[in-house]
Amino acid sequence: MRVLSGIQPTGRFHWGNYFGAIRQYIDLQDEDEAYYFIANLHALTTVRDPKVLADLTLDAAIDLLALGLDPDRAILFLQSDVPEVSELCWLLMTGAPMGLLERCHAYKDKKAKGLPADVGLFTYPVLMSADILAYDADTVPVGEDQVQHIEVCRDLAGSFNHQFGDVFVMPKPKLLDSSARVPGTNSEKMSKSYNNTLELFEDPKSLRKKIMRITTDSRPMEEPKEPEGDILFDLYSLMATTEERDKMAALYRGGGFGYGEVKKSLADVADRYLEQPRMRREELAGHPEKVREILADGASRARKKAGEVLLRAQKACGVK
Ligand code: TRP
Repeated sequence: MRVLSGIQPTGRFHWGNYFGAIRQYIDLQDEDEAYYFIANLHALTTVRDPKVLADLTLDAAIDLLALGLDPDRAILFLQSDVPEVSELCWLLMTGAPMGLLERCHAYKDKKAKGLPADVGLFTYPVLMSADILAYDADTVPVGEDQVQHIEVCRDLAGSFNHQFGDVFVMPKPKLLDSSARVPGTNSEKMSKSYNNTLELFEDPKSLRKKIMRITTDSRPMEEPKEPEGDILFDLYSLMATTEERDKMAALYRGGGFGYGEVKKSLADVADRYLEQPRMRREELAGHPEKVREILADGASRARKKAGEVLLRAQKACGVK
């Protein structure tokens, strides 16, 4: 089984990104052949400052490596380092029905709001299809919001295969487990668009400050409280051991505690959880040339595979 996924470098990773996706990608590297790339060409549809995009791209690579993505087990590369994918994208675009892309939510939502959309946004799902098909990926772990794009990919692959013969492997989405509740610093789901994130690699002091500033309800100290669904408890559960979690739950249910202590415990478990990744990150950030080497090696392995698939597609449709 070949697993593949792309991650857009549109902002620094937060706890929601990690517990909702990144951790699961990293777990999959042990089971299967895994291809992971930083989708900087997709990010270009929204990030239009070159320095910001370049920095976010390198930071994303460093973050993934620091979090445990292992270049000996998974192939890590930049989307833009594999030009074969952009060529394949054109082959797929020639057979992509307008109506199929008009129904895709990113484009449709923008249109519905009366905002001008560019062609990049419109054809975004075709580039994503090329990303997937170029490596003969069978399994694509994604969040719910990307499932529609995998359907488009399957449609495009199916009609290409139908017209030109058996060229592409039919991929399947693997829905990421989204059961971990990751609330933001207000009660909404943690998300960049709600401006309520805790960044994974935020400076420890400022992280602690942010945690201490999380707004809580005005329950009096002595009153018991149901832990599940409480922002602090949910965040604590992500990084605490089961024992610590049970103890904290008992504290909530017993009453007679203050949120100040909980915040302090939360900051402590976060420090413990992030200690190793922070150390690895510091080491990697001090040697960006090593990171670039890892990415270059990943790209050359990825290009080898993508080159084979592109040639297969080119021959099938008569351009080679
Ligand atoms: N569009 C995906 C996202 O925003 C990123 C992505 C680009 C991707 N190409 C991909 C994901 C190919 C899976 C497979 O999350």
